[in-house]
Amino acid sequence: MNVIVIGGGGREHAIISRLVKNPRISKIYALPGNGGISELAECVKISAEDIKGIVEFAKNNAIDYAVVAPDDPLALGAVDELEALGIECFGPRKDAALIESSKIFAKELMRKYNIPTADYKIFDVLDEALTYAAKSDFPIVVKADGLAKGKGVVVAENFQQARDAIISCMKNRAFGASGEKILIEECLKGVEVTVLAFTDGNVIVPMVSSKDHKRAFDGNKGANTGGMGVIAPNLSYTPEIANYCMKNIFQPTIDAMNRENRKFKGCLYFGLMLTKDGPKVIEYNCRFGDPETQAVLPLLEADLFEIMLAVSSGKLSDVKISFSGKYSCCVVAASENYPASSETGFEIDFGDASKVDGVEIFHAGTDCKIGSNGEKVFVTSGGRVLSVNAVAENPELARSKAYEAIREIYFPGMRFRHDIGAV
Ligand code: AMP
Ligand code: GLY
Repeated sequence: MNVIVIGGGGREHAIISRLVKNPRISKIYALPGNGGISELAECVKISAEDIKGIVEFAKNNAIDYAVVAPDDPLALGAVDELEALGIECFGPRKDAALIESSKIFAKELMRKYNIPTADYKIFDVLDEALTYAAKSDFPIVVKADGLAKGKGVVVAENFQQARDAIISCMKNRAFGASGEKILIEECLKGVEVTVLAFTDGNVIVPMVSSKDHKRAFDGNKGANTGGMGVIAPNLSYTPEIANYCMKNIFQPTIDAMNRENRKFKGCLYFGLMLTKDGPKVIEYNCRFGDPETQAVLPLLEADLFEIMLAVSSGKLSDVKISFSGKYSCCVVAASENYPASSETGFEIDFGDASKVDGVEIFHAGTDCKIGSNGEKVFVTSGGRVLSVNAVAENPELARSKAYEAIREIYFPGMRFRHDIGAV
């Protein structure tokens, strides 16, 4: 089978590293892919947001199956258009992707179907939002309704911060139409957990839990980022909590989407807060998380492509999905100023990183070039550059292996958090 994978980050590198193991796949194209992915698949310079370009490419290259990994093409309806060509897809259609692309839709779904989440109010008038914020007890959370490249959420500690966030969304239109409407939410306290789950729209199978570390610096300081590292499973997520979530959050979400005529197929991402009143949903994403995927897929024992086929054909209960019982620690190597923009194009020296037992290195912002000595070199091309994941028998060992490997790697300005899995 000929497969296209849309996207070009660490998540897509991790997905493709598993797809290449399936003997039914003869060829993988990545649109656009990255330096690391180019070693496993043919990278084609078509952006993940260029739906026309993707459809044209699929038409001309006898594509049998498509994995649409990032949020933007899912929200833009890439699956709908590819399915219209008769191509089977992993990922939800546009009407179901709304669970991520409109935070207001997600909150109203939860309110309607009694799925536990933070209290909230919706605003589409600037002055009303400011008046409400002025009267609130802080912290509060200000969220743009639509997709904002992971930057549309501000946990405001005081009125000044809330005011800046509201004005930036609703007046200055920092996120364009995505910020026309906003949510102001109660700030939940507790431990954050990510649960990724395969679902064919009826059956839902959670993967091992994980813990993302979203802030830029050690000690959970600094700006929110796309994610600086992951430990999996999440040690706070006990079997009792997992049972509660299955009964009160996971299955009810799938049922709610069906009742709304928005059958969700693909990977559904549950961002949860374990509060003193029980687990609550912080957010849904309509896709695999990044960098959670780089930590979770190395623990998956079943064949990823067979699971994807079962998801898209509505036969998820026919496959056995098992995990190794080991632990992953994934540390992200970022460019100097990430999440602000940084200089790129620096050559990456990997040292002996890949020789460390249990380590896999997934590329995110990299390109592959021919160096001055005629050999292949990798250069930086983005904010998050690499995800270095180690699998081991226990979390401490996974941590020490991941850090042993990342300390072998060098590029100018490289930085990483030192406390992944320890906070
Ligand atoms: P998101 O962009 O929706 O992933 O949100 C980014 C981060 O903001 C989450 O991972 C949480 O750490 C934080 N956050 C979002 N909503 C809330 C909330 N209601 N209470 C506390 N923290 C939140
Ligand atoms: N790691 C957070 C996300 O994928 O949205």
